[in-house]
Amino acid sequence: MTSIVQNQWYVAAYGREIGRELFSRTICGESILFWRTEAGEVTAMSDRCVHRRFPLSQAPSHLDGDTVVCGYHGFTYGADGKCVAVPGQTRVPRTARLKSYPVVEQDTLVWIFIGDADKADATRIPRAPWLDQEGWTTVSGMEPLAARASLLVDNLMDLSHETYLHGGYIGTPEVAETPITTEVDEEAGIVYVSRHMADAECPPFYAKSTGIEGRITRWQDIEFAPPCLYKLHSRVAPVGVLPNEDGTDPHAFHVEVNYAITPETENSTHDFWMVSRDFALDDEAVTDFLRESNRTVVLQDVTALDVLEQVIAGEPDGYQELSINIDTGALAARRIIARLAAEASGAAAEQAAATAR
Ligand code: FES
Ligand SMILES: [Fe+2]
Repeated sequence: MTSIVQNQWYVAAYGREIGRELFSRTICGESILFWRTEAGEVTAMSDRCVHRRFPLSQAPSHLDGDTVVCGYHGFTYGADGKCVAVPGQTRVPRTARLKSYPVVEQDTLVWIFIGDADKADATRIPRAPWLDQEGWTTVSGMEPLAARASLLVDNLMDLSHETYLHGGYIGTPEVAETPITTEVDEEAGIVYVSRHMADAECPPFYAKSTGIEGRITRWQDIEFAPPCLYKLHSRVAPVGVLPNEDGTDPHAFHVEVNYAITPETENSTHDFWMVSRDFALDDEAVTDFLRESNRTVVLQDVTALDVLEQVIAGEPDGYQELSINIDTGALAARRIIARLAAEASGAAAEQAAATAR
């Protein structure tokens, strides 16, 4: 039984990663081949030839126009995964077809639907418009995490760890000291966690990038759309500077910190991170600084979570965690993910029963 939630959209890659080279990535335990057609559309199909399972991403497999040719015996597949030619005979077996996956490229991200393709509804993909919008500059990356996705969810839903794990970067005492408020939109399946610090120390991450000297009003508003897209709406301003009544906010600095949490396997995760800002848009020094500091912060989490995965692997069953107020958001996220998993396995059982009838 897999702990990976099926019938969901996951971020498979940044759009920039996929071109006219064969690209392979394991998503939710499935080895998937990606490439762009000559018209620029991203395709996703199984990375295992139906003949003798040679990986299609492996040289000498190659693209020939809008087909991919297996490097072992030459089975040739179209962009929809259907085999169009086999060696030594003109008749192509009807069942010669690679599993193909629904994909949507939006907001610079390539989303893939894992599960029953008939259930893929692209309108359910959460949006992050700033990744691809005038007025924002983004740095991004992806770090491999040797830990299960749920550990990254826990980590991101509770930012009080910034004070301890990320001191000197984004953590200051006020983050851990300030209580959070948590709200759950059950119907939309979204968890909100807010922490508004009225008068806080400015950590180097923001002091150096914004140029603010002195203390700040710092807001952290998390919006998590399980299982994959996490958004931290971060607002930083000189102490006491608040948004105008009409919602405009010209004297604050806004940073959208996004993560896409995509299981690679049961026990490993693709940790996609993105930091978008609405200030110093063309300042390369700020861009380089934010890229380097955020990557360092992400790696601090990766190191800690890799340790936790090992701890969990080695412990006897029945370990009881103790949760406190700071964990409310993480617990809500776990609950929603469990519900999504139950819905998906319910749907799978229904389908199996229908097939058996
Ligand atoms: S394994 Fe691909 S053609 Fe034989
Ligand atoms: Fe962290």
